[in-house]
Amino acid sequence: MKAIVYTQYGPPEVLQFKDVEKPTPKDNEVLVQIHAASANPADWHTMRAAPFLARLANGFFKPRNPRLGADLAGRVEAIGRTITQFQAGDDVFGCLPVSEMGSFAEYVCAREDVLALKPATVTFEQAAAVPLAALTALQGLRDKGQIQSGQKVLINGASGGVGTFAVQIAKSFGAEVTGVCSTRNLDMVRSIGADHVIDYTREDFTNSGQQYDLIYCAVGNRSITDYKRALKPQGVCVIAGFTNMRLLFEHMILGPRRSKAGGQQVGLMPTMKVNKKDLDFMKELLETGRVKPVIDRRYHLAEVPEALRYLEEGHAQGKVVITVAQGAQS
Ligand SMILES: NC(=O)c1ccc[n+]([C@@H]2O[C@H](COP(=O)([O-])OP(=O)(O)OC[C@H]3O[C@@H](n4cnc5c(N)ncnc54)[C@H](OP(=O)(O)O)[C@@H]3O)[C@@H](O)[C@H]2O)c1
Repeated sequence: MKAIVYTQYGPPEVLQFKDVEKPTPKDNEVLVQIHAASANPADWHTMRAAPFLARLANGFFKPRNPRLGADLAGRVEAIGRTITQFQAGDDVFGCLPVSEMGSFAEYVCAREDVLALKPATVTFEQAAAVPLAALTALQGLRDKGQIQSGQKVLINGASGGVGTFAVQIAKSFGAEVTGVCSTRNLDMVRSIGADHVIDYTREDFTNSGQQYDLIYCAVGNRSITDYKRALKPQGVCVIAGFTNMRLLFEHMILGPRRSKAGGQQVGLMPTMKVNKKDLDFMKELLETGRVKPVIDRRYHLAEVPEALRYLEEGHAQGKVVITVAQGAQS
């Protein structure tokens, strides 16, 4: 089968489109023929081992796992002996843990707890756009942010992969949503349900005088003082995005210290954990049309280097999808 493989860390040029052995499922695995995958910042962070700490997870000198790609949608071709929830022929979507990446390929083996049945109402490409970005938005808003109906919620980075899901998921919880994006994305962010939009090239949401119950930041580009200024006295700010090491350490170390008990809370969300319950939650939002994936660009499997080069520029409008098999658009 064809797959994207890399044996050294570096820019997209280290990626090779190669023939590799088709995997065989272990007892607790499902073999999926991939129809579509999608790209996430986790792919290029892992590819470049940037920030440097990424080497702790995937090998210090060279990648332990030579494969990339977390999100996938496809058809189950075979199942291991102990698999109970899927059978050959099922259409599924899901997300591989970072240590087991490999969805930039024609086939992959996955544990059943990282997969769910694909909603019949969406294409394989749409389904592949969902898992990592949508679960990051869902777990940040619901679990860390404790989102409630009627709250004023601000999504910073509303036009990106995570942000486009965060806007729609926050609306599905009954929040009044403000999306922050640049001028060219204002209409798109309105079209996915934002009640208000702020153009970050013209207005600073932390200095507008407006205060929010919940800020979900998919950019991670502001100081704790800035976030606190835009929060109500009991407000919560959940940071998912990474901009630079200085801000990361500020959010990680000072965030908990400067969050007073009973007062404003500012902090990083834990790394998203893929699980079947949340995939099923998203399946229902997709089936009822309350969430529609926004697809920016499509690339073929051999073009993954171009896809990651584009994503790394940091200006995706929704998700970047990798089309692997014919029929990915059905
Ligand atoms: N904690 C976790 O488990 C987890 C999981 C997934 C992702 N993440 C992190 O979350 C972040 C977002 O991921 P993603 O998939 O959404 O990335 P992405 O698709 O590359 O999104 C980039 C978006 O950010 C917007 N943006 C850039 N600068 C901005 C600014 N100053 N103000 C507002 N928006 C701005 C861009 O819009 P313009 O083109 O208009 O600038 C673009 O739409 C990344 O840092 C990623 O590493 C964390």
